[in-house]
Amino acid sequence: MKNYKNVTIFDHPLIKHKVAILRDKNTGMKQFRELVEEITTLMTFESFKDVPTKKVMVETPLETTEQTMVVDKSIAVIPILRAGLGMVNGVHSLFPTAKVGHVGLYRDEETLEPHEYYCKLPEGIESKTAILLDPMLATGGSASAAITLLKNKGVKKIKLMSIIAAPEGIETVATAHPDVEIYVSTLDRCLNENGYILPGLGDAGDRLFGTK
Ligand code: PRP
Ligand code: URA
Repeated sequence: MKNYKNVTIFDHPLIKHKVAILRDKNTGMKQFRELVEEITTLMTFESFKDVPTKKVMVETPLETTEQTMVVDKSIAVIPILRAGLGMVNGVHSLFPTAKVGHVGLYRDEETLEPHEYYCKLPEGIESKTAILLDPMLATGGSASAAITLLKNKGVKKIKLMSIIAAPEGIETVATAHPDVEIYVSTLDRCLNENGYILPGLGDAGDRLFGTK
């Protein structure tokens, strides 16, 4: 795959360890959900080195000191339904007051084209950094459609976080949206004939919510 300036692939052993357990078909729903949250927190930590901060005065038991704190009002969390929902708590563990918007998209099983069925975004989204969440970046159709939707609503700064990506998905999104920062914990081999990521983890939504 080509090197894209706007793509970061985490190659961290602690994330790899958790992704290995996530992939295992014997990992149950509860552990799957916990791992998705934990991986998301680690990814958020790494991808927000540029988070806006403010100076605050803090009184320690000994003296008053100027300290740095995060402005988490500047961030909005946007999961792509359904599977992106599993990542929200992982971001909230670092940005507890970030508002959440929802974009509902499902992939047509035959054409693999995304279809929008829901959109509700927090007020003032245009001036926030939107963290778009979807654990799986397969063809890239869903993420691309969600990014276009956010841009049409006036959002200027978008970070996409996906746990597992196929090269096809990265190429599609990175080419269509070179201004969007893409963070991926693991780059997989390819898509199969049904548009599933190999080796992948199966259907993320079904494994998170116990459906088939
Ligand atoms: C899955 C996944 C992504 C999308 C990725 O969602 O959560 O949103 O497929 O595929 P793409 O990159 O080829 O668009 P799905 O449509 O299965 O809906 P769900 O989350 O409700 O299960
Ligand atoms: N959506 C998933 O949940 N898994 C895949 O492998 C591809 C799309």
